Amino acid sequence: MLSNQAGDEKRTSLHGHWSSRMAFILAVTGSAVGLGNIWKFPYIAGQNGGGAFVLVYLVCVIVIGMPVMMSEILIGRRGRRNPVATMELLGKEEGSSGNWRWLGGLGVMAGILILSYYSVIAGWTLAYVVKSATGVFVGATAEEVGAEFGGFVGSWKAITLCHTLFMALATFVVARGVERGIEQAVRFMVPALLILMLVLLGYSMSSGYFGQGVAFMFTPDFDKLTWGSVLAALGQAFFTLSIGMGAIMAYGAYLPEETSITGASAAVVTADTSIAILAGLAIFPLVFANGLDPADGPGLVFQTLPLAFGQMAGGMFFSTIFFVLLSFAAWTSAIGLMEPAVAWLVEHYNRSRTQATIIVGGVIWLIGMGSVLSFNVLADTKFLAGTLFDNIDYLTSNIMLPLGGLLITVFAGWVMCRNSTSDELGSSGTLYKAWRMLARFVAPIGILFVLINAVT
Ligand code: PFF
Repeated sequence: MLSNQAGDEKRTSLHGHWSSRMAFILAVTGSAVGLGNIWKFPYIAGQNGGGAFVLVYLVCVIVIGMPVMMSEILIGRRGRRNPVATMELLGKEEGSSGNWRWLGGLGVMAGILILSYYSVIAGWTLAYVVKSATGVFVGATAEEVGAEFGGFVGSWKAITLCHTLFMALATFVVARGVERGIEQAVRFMVPALLILMLVLLGYSMSSGYFGQGVAFMFTPDFDKLTWGSVLAALGQAFFTLSIGMGAIMAYGAYLPEETSITGASAAVVTADTSIAILAGLAIFPLVFANGLDPADGPGLVFQTLPLAFGQMAGGMFFSTIFFVLLSFAAWTSAIGLMEPAVAWLVEHYNRSRTQATIIVGGVIWLIGMGSVLSFNVLADTKFLAGTLFDNIDYLTSNIMLPLGGLLITVFAGWVMCRNSTSDELGSSGTLYKAWRMLARFVAPIGILFVLINAVT
């Protein structure tokens, strides 16, 4: 099975395969739809001035995100191992070098670092389930909701507890083997989340500030656009689609041969982008209606949404369901963030899945304590991009993921021969040519250009 695939039997994955095309799409959608869409997108868009940022983000999703996602899936399916071993195997097989494994290693590291702070925010959503269910936000004013949030994140003990709980949940599911759990969760979660976002949108539309919210999101003011915000848009495209770090590669390894990679990618990208836009449309009118600042940062969603729910009939119920769903969305994403590291430990060091998951979970929890403290004890300790949390976020989203994506497209577009990629993508027609053009030229050059301009 280690020999060249041409004329050989197709490889199979050690960890089994997805039961259907739908199962794969649901799992990747589960990984993609998460805090990135509902928590991060609105606040990053807010911090970067709205319209022009959103436009650049959409362009990045289509011309860079889509080809990177297709490249990752096809590489994963061809190698059928963890990202480190897959890159090493294909590097050799395509006549390049086994050193491509370092690209897999970069992904494993990125996953660990992202989850370290992702888990902290996901912990907040858990706490907000309880706060909502006990009626904390019913009839609350903007000041009260703000004070509640400030008091909560200001207590390192409270958010350590939540971070710990979330990491325990993530570790538990990954240790048990993930497929069934993810399938069931996502099948129910994504449609339910969509429905609740529509309910919120309805409320937002009646706030009287809907036009202002839409204008903020869709009127591009290019004067506000710096190279820094272009990089933030690129980083957000990577983050929200879960690409550039091998998570999708790890999922692709379990993908049956006959599934269309292009179709699956298009479905995931559409679902993910729609939810982010919907979240923005629901949130910005509420920001303006309540005199809040769109550039407020990571607390934005935790203040606007409880406020809106607090004013709505049945708000206590909706708010509870909403934060339950958001916790689920974060949970299914956390699984994708852990999978490359866990699969690598299992295969490389012959660890049992349970052992590997506990080790990875423990390391992530520990690093995450840095982000926990960034919101209270170390809130004033700032360097480079800000607090430790800000720096880990910047390093992963804006540097590691784009760099990973750049190298993935270079590998798929330049190192892999045409036969290998057309074999996986299953055609040589217009779609294939478009992918190849994007993967060889547009994506790598685009990423490099933005990185260089933003960093220098
Ligand atoms: N895409 C997830 C989100 O938008 O919340 C975050 C994420 C999950 C990034 C998995 C990377 C990943 F591998």
